[in-house]
Amino acid sequence: MMELKKLLNIKYSVIMAPMFLVTNLKMMMEADKCGISGCIPALNFRNISDFKNALKELKEKCHHAFGVNVIVNKSNFFLKEQMKWILEYQVPYITTSLGSPKNIILECKKNKILVFSDVVDEIHAKKVQDLGGDALIAVNNQAGGHLGQYSARELILKLKNVVRIPIISAGGVATKAGFDEIMSLGADGICVGSPFIACTESDVSTSYKNACVNFGAKDIVVTNKISGTPCTVIKTPYVEKIGTQQNCVEAFLNSNKRLKKIAKFFITYKGFSLLKKAAFGANYKQVWVAGKSIEYVDKIRPLREIVERLTK
Ligand SMILES: Cc1cc2nc3c(=O)[nH]c(=O)nc-3n(C[C@H](O)[C@H](O)[C@H](O)COP(=O)(O)O)c2cc1C
Repeated sequence: MMELKKLLNIKYSVIMAPMFLVTNLKMMMEADKCGISGCIPALNFRNISDFKNALKELKEKCHHAFGVNVIVNKSNFFLKEQMKWILEYQVPYITTSLGSPKNIILECKKNKILVFSDVVDEIHAKKVQDLGGDALIAVNNQAGGHLGQYSARELILKLKNVVRIPIISAGGVATKAGFDEIMSLGADGICVGSPFIACTESDVSTSYKNACVNFGAKDIVVTNKISGTPCTVIKTPYVEKIGTQQNCVEAFLNSNKRLKKIAKFFITYKGFSLLKKAAFGANYKQVWVAGKSIEYVDKIRPLREIVERLTK
């Protein structure tokens, strides 16, 4: 086992989690200055040229290891292009979500780029280790975004039984006490998302940030309306109105073998544009992704203070 801080040569064993629409370059640079490592979704860039420029800037301005999150299933039409620039700029590590990281691990190994893969159970964890993955992001049932089914404790213990590679626990941590508890279970680091949504450096709307301050753990619900995959959102009046289950047309399309792929594309596209409008605009369609750890968010704070609450 190797603690994350040694693996990435950072001060604290903490990754600021990749968050669709939320993580930006300012946050990445600030995380780097605060002694943790930032990870940004490739999906947060409008096109490949913006993505390429961002990697160049990160490479120039970050003093420590930073990461990029890539979706590795077939829904990501840009995977090949994204990987080309990840290799070109020698991104220190990538995290993979939604799909098998097999080919990506092979490609990255040749180029000395570390690969950390999202897993929710021991079966997938074992597969990632066998494929040569460098660490696991163990997504538990408190995580924001796509969540797992086990508690942090259950998942870490299950994984420790079957793998030797580092385990980075994702979900539910916002304080030093929470961080210490996870490490005492045998994790090698943590990956923290939701507590950073309401940071000063984030570009999401003040309403989204204020929602993270004003709502708490009890207001988080799981919806499959965005992409068909369960995802946590804040129970705003709009979410209550539209419900959290796909309507019968969406459910039919999603379950039909022939139509599934194309249906998923359209449902995801629709869901993502809804999220985008809600994250940046003054829109009554308030669908805001966040996890239960917003319970600890008491005001909009500079990113540095959020790191201090986690580490001091
Ligand atoms: C707003 C939001 C967006 C997210 N987007 C992504 C993403 O694009 N890719 C990804 O791998 N995980 C994504 N996640 C999951 C996080 O990377 C991480 O697993 C999670 O935030 C950890 O739980 P926490 O929010 O309790 O800290 C997202 C989470 C949130 C809250």
